[in-house]
Amino acid sequence: MSLPVHTAPLGLSLRPTAPSSPASPPEGTAPLGLSLIPGTPYSVLVLQEGYSRALPDGTMQADGTVTLLRGPRLTLVDTGGPWGRERLLGLLAAQGVAPGDVSHVVCTHGHSDHAGNLNLFPGATLLVGFDLSRGEGLYLPHNLGDGAPYPIDPGHVEVLPTPGHTAAHTSVLVRGTALGTVLVAGDLFEREQDEAAWRALSEDPARQEQSRRRALALADVVIPGHGPPFRVFRPHGDDTPKRRVETEPRYPQTDPQDLRRGGAAPPSPERQAAWLPAQQPEITGSEPRYRQPPRPRGGRVSAADEGSPCHQPPRPRGVPV
Ligand SMILES: [Fe+2]
Repeated sequence: MSLPVHTAPLGLSLRPTAPSSPASPPEGTAPLGLSLIPGTPYSVLVLQEGYSRALPDGTMQADGTVTLLRGPRLTLVDTGGPWGRERLLGLLAAQGVAPGDVSHVVCTHGHSDHAGNLNLFPGATLLVGFDLSRGEGLYLPHNLGDGAPYPIDPGHVEVLPTPGHTAAHTSVLVRGTALGTVLVAGDLFEREQDEAAWRALSEDPARQEQSRRRALALADVVIPGHGPPFRVFRPHGDDTPKRRVETEPRYPQTDPQDLRRGGAAPPSPERQAAWLPAQQPEITGSEPRYRQPPRPRGGRVSAADEGSPCHQPPRPRGVPV
């Protein structure tokens, strides 16, 4: 079966990442080639593009992607490693942003290359994994652990639980940009074309695969934890209606008063249904782009694939660290 031909803005061609079959048209991805995605009311700016590389002596060098969401609630997603403190301050200053201007900081998970500069933002609302706090150690209720999103700006920016890489991993969904829905994904994705890498770094590959599949059904652009942003394409006739539906807010918006009080409103049944795994509607007719045959644990990983964060060689399950 021949693959459908797609075109995209920026003159980039589609690179299918999954084998085709008549029942499951392939989805594809392509580099975005941009660090700024304009939008209303939120623009997405990649301040620092994450990377990872294997060094000749067997060590790894890496840092995480840092992304700024410019809009009514200035939000930073991940903070890079502590070694990049001055660089992060400089990147923010170049945007005219002082640390005290940032109202929300989301660390997609607690690894050092993502949460290393959290203490630059003591005045912000902080979400690290599933730990939500404000002020001097005031921990706030939410329902991420039950699968419900946490709205930062209802209808525009919300945090989704995307477990797998770590149990409390989150991603940040930004709606209404010029390129559609953007997912700032932390280490849910190491980078585009990361099939051989992500499983070895995952605490729970089965859950992460589910999270990846659901995330890719929502996102038009993914900003991964250790590589440049990439676009997500779906075959015509398959994704367009679904995407139109998925980009609508899928649960009643939280009363802004709840946010001012610092907590998320208790989720309605409709809101919980939007993201709870057991109730998530199955995306039919499109296989996940990254579905690959399972690779044996402890198997060989290429040097390129080893170049990922959290940056321990794969180890057998159950071996204590
Ligand atoms: Fe990580």
